[in-house]
Amino acid sequence: MNEQAETGQPASGAFDEARLLDTQRAFDSVAADYDGPRGNNELIQRMRTTMWHTVGAELPAGSRLLDLGCGTGLDAVEFARHGYHVVASDWSPEMVARTRARAVNEGVQEHLSAVHLGIQQLFLLGGRFDGVYSNFGPLNCAPDLRAVADECARLVRPGGSLVFSVMGRVCPWELAHYAVRRRFGRAGIRFGKGVREVGMNGHTIWTWYYTPREFYAAFAEHFSLASYRALSLFLPPPYMVDRYRRRPERYERLGRLDDRFGGLPVLRDMGDHFLIVMHRR
Ligand SMILES: C[S@@+](CC[C@H](N)C(=O)[O-])C[C@H]1O[C@@H](n2cnc3c(N)ncnc32)[C@H](O)[C@@H]1O
Repeated sequence: MNEQAETGQPASGAFDEARLLDTQRAFDSVAADYDGPRGNNELIQRMRTTMWHTVGAELPAGSRLLDLGCGTGLDAVEFARHGYHVVASDWSPEMVARTRARAVNEGVQEHLSAVHLGIQQLFLLGGRFDGVYSNFGPLNCAPDLRAVADECARLVRPGGSLVFSVMGRVCPWELAHYAVRRRFGRAGIRFGKGVREVGMNGHTIWTWYYTPREFYAAFAEHFSLASYRALSLFLPPPYMVDRYRRRPERYERLGRLDDRFGGLPVLRDMGDHFLIVMHRR
């Protein structure tokens, strides 16, 4: 999501409808080409696979899943194909339309329904889920994480799982990338408090960054922390995919370091994203 990110300015104030609409427009504008390098390049696919395995280890096929910020439905269709029942939600109507079309193309409509719903509107959703997942940062766009946690607690059965991939604060590759270009404001964007402006395709995505601990604090009342790990720590963030393509063997070696050491203390607090698993008490 942080592809083409520009220098962010801290913004203050409470939740703002206009910001959510900015973010919606930004994602609507990229939905048509999101399945290409922007949303599904090799580095993204690598993180996606880790998410798939993690959900698969948490919940058996047949479980009812809720996808928050489903994008074009790549994950939702994958789970539907493997026998899960998925409600896929997104704040961008263009993304929802693509998820619906993908479900039809793949013949999994029986297992997948797509709804136009923002994470900030979860109070409108009924039903009971075995698990909720969210991949590649939709939760970084939610203005009130505690409200999201309360809604997840209402929607998830006791013992059910949350599996979220979230953009973290400490991404060494990104720090180095912008620092050597002397773009120090951009290098430090993830460290700022409160909401940050991130540019994409001429639009603004209003973004909140978290350490895993800051993120978990919002959920701690209703959910126990099962695990968290770094995603793309040794590997660069997805918007640096050109580096990977120039020397894929070398970067695959770094990917294996991610797989092996990304869950270790200290290292797991860094990376482009972190993958966090929580259980409903
Ligand atoms: C980086 S994309 C990830 C999409 C998908 N999860 C994937 O893995 O390909 C972020 C998604 O979050 C959605 N999003 C942003 N803000 C949202 C919000 N407030 N509520 C729900 N979805 C949101 C965007 O429309 C976009 O589809």
